[in-house]
Amino acid sequence: MNKIITIVGARPQFVKAAAVSREMANSNIHEILVHTGQHFDKNMSDVFFDEMQIPKPDFNLEINSLSHGAMTGRMMEQIEKLAIEIKPDGLMVYGDTNSTIAGALAAKKLHIPVIHVESGLRSFNMDMPEEVNRILTDRISDILFCPTESAVQNLKREGFDNYNCQIIQNGDVMYDAALFYSNLAEEKATVFNNSSIKPEEYILVTLHRQENTDEPNRLREIVSALNEIHKKYGVVIPLHPRTRKKLDQFNIELQAKTIDPVGYFDMIQLIKNSRFVMTDSGGLQKEAYFFKKACITMRDQTEWVELVNHGFNFLTGANRKKILETADEIENKNMHFELDLYGKGNASKKIVDILAKS
Ligand code: UD1
Repeated sequence: MNKIITIVGARPQFVKAAAVSREMANSNIHEILVHTGQHFDKNMSDVFFDEMQIPKPDFNLEINSLSHGAMTGRMMEQIEKLAIEIKPDGLMVYGDTNSTIAGALAAKKLHIPVIHVESGLRSFNMDMPEEVNRILTDRISDILFCPTESAVQNLKREGFDNYNCQIIQNGDVMYDAALFYSNLAEEKATVFNNSSIKPEEYILVTLHRQENTDEPNRLREIVSALNEIHKKYGVVIPLHPRTRKKLDQFNIELQAKTIDPVGYFDMIQLIKNSRFVMTDSGGLQKEAYFFKKACITMRDQTEWVELVNHGFNFLTGANRKKILETADEIENKNMHFELDLYGKGNASKKIVDILAKS
């Protein structure tokens, strides 16, 4: 392939693109970067492009803050137009967001090969928009790059060996990014400057999944646990705009230290200096592991099953009691993080090498 359109739109995709686009720039492939605009705030989007030196998007579609159907539909329409004009040899999408499925569907209908990075992950919860997005994207992808062995197994179990597609286990591009930016983050992060956040004196929390934020009972239960944990150990939470809106809407009081969403450097430093991590994000579960921190996942399932199986990650759902018990358990535990679960930090290079030969 000589010419590839890459679709990004949401925060975790900027991190993944930072690793892959850098490799792409060192190859013979010409990458055309399209930002759907799904995430648009300075601290949800621009900061990642600036810090991680991701090439400026060639196109920004500025599509956001719409219902799932409207958002996905409008993205498809615009991506289709671009793809017809640009005639790429392939179109690459990351992960499981509305931007992912929009890009994949638009390309597939034009018979443009679809490349899916972070393929094969499953939560087995079809109520999550992300699960629908990832399953449908996998099914219409031509080259499926899987981060883990369990992702490959999921695809095989679903019969993907019978489809006309390539399945490749290449490792996790987020691990590449974590390794590459770790030292730089040390130097450039500002989150501890003039701040009341003190290293080692807090638990880092993020919370934004629709299944938690849009269900008042779940959100209340989780926040009640966080308020309790905050009193004991201190909680710092960079608050996603979705969560902020929902806390206001349901009139729920979060007593932890809330800050605006942070960029990648600050996030890495916040993880490294935390006691441990609590989240419902997919990416943060792994980033906790990369930086040798335990993680409580406030969801009923996780796609990163190997972390749970090896005892690095604890699934609590939105159960207040379970969250509190697990937090105390982790506080009193010594853990060792020596396994090689996500490859060797060359996942992006493998992707680009394979695409260059395809
Ligand atoms: C999306 C992805 C999710 C991913 C997450 C990372 C889907 C279905 N979900 O969820 O898989 O883990 O991104 O953060 O694609 N908003 C702002 N400013 C922004 C971005 C969003 O105010 O920069 C607001 C939106 O207007 C909306 C809400 O936050 O009201 C949610 O945004 P949305 O893009 O729908 O999904 P996320 O919850 O961010």
